[in-house]
Amino acid sequence: METQIGHEIELAKQLLEHSELVAIPTETVYGLAANALSLEAISKIYQVKNRPQFNPLILHVANVTEMKKYVSHLPSKLEILIQKFSPGPLTVLLPKSDLVPDIVTAGSSKVAIRIPNHPLTLELLQYLDFPLAAPSANISGRVSPTSAEHVLEQLSGKIPYILDGGETKIGLESTIVGYDLISQQILIHRLGGLSIEDIEEFLLEKVKLNIHHDTPETPGQLKSHYATSTELLVGEIDELILDKTIENVVIINYHKTKDYSVIKQFILTTQNTTTEAAKNLFRIMREADKCGASHILCEWAPNEGLGKAINDRLKKASFNKT
Ligand code: TXA
Ligand code: MG
Repeated sequence: METQIGHEIELAKQLLEHSELVAIPTETVYGLAANALSLEAISKIYQVKNRPQFNPLILHVANVTEMKKYVSHLPSKLEILIQKFSPGPLTVLLPKSDLVPDIVTAGSSKVAIRIPNHPLTLELLQYLDFPLAAPSANISGRVSPTSAEHVLEQLSGKIPYILDGGETKIGLESTIVGYDLISQQILIHRLGGLSIEDIEEFLLEKVKLNIHHDTPETPGQLKSHYATSTELLVGEIDELILDKTIENVVIINYHKTKDYSVIKQFILTTQNTTTEAAKNLFRIMREADKCGASHILCEWAPNEGLGKAINDRLKKASFNKT
């Protein structure tokens, strides 16, 4: 199969209507989209990504009215949050309605659902009479794509079409939130492109972190994820570099400090903001991976704003599998 890249919404629509896969741009990362109501289409997602069947998919819809069709209950606090931050990098995890096939939620009674903020994809969703199931458009366990070219690198020949919407604005996957009926608190299931500070400042209350790995609640939050082929180590560069052959490593600095005589040195943010670093993170991880180095040495981001989600991804990318 030859993979085409373009801007044709009508072609994307036709392919999706025929249960084919289309990579779509969002504000967070590119998604690998399929008709969420077609079992044939959904099973292609698992095949192409080589994704374990127990890892459920996020539904993408055009607006809140559509969202309400696919959940059985929407607590008012979550609805307020959705009204404020959608379309945007916010996914809500809620009891599903009967319209959502079990294969989408991997058998769970809850569905993850969001309204992506990208003009092409929003237009596409408005033309479709079904929601799109879309995980990030990478091979399972690898770095998420933030451009159409990144999608092509991993999925060329495996899908018919990539809808090109340029570089993604945010660069990290959506923040997944749920709701604890007993404490009536917002739960954070995955750190992402919407910061905890933004949610708490808006709601004027604290949220509860519920980020467990390998539990049934978020089965996809596996410890080893976002992996580069080159081994990635995270910490203080001066310490990490001690027992390494300096000519053989690449460095990812958060914000420029000093020069090292290494293969290449990358900087996540020149303006020293966590939002700029988030936007650049996955692209720079990919570029660093292509340098032929023995190791990628990377600094932690400050633990604030999107820095928390950046550090979550770095932790997973550096998780030692042995
Ligand atoms: O920004 C995003 O959310 C991107 C774009 C394409 O929308 N999508 C994305 O999908 O990151 P994916 O599949 O790469 O990550 C979705 C995460 C996985 O960890 C999955 O386990 C979890 O959400 N998830 C999805 N549905 C769930 C459910 N019903 N219950 C618990 N966790 C769920
Ligand atoms: Mg993913």
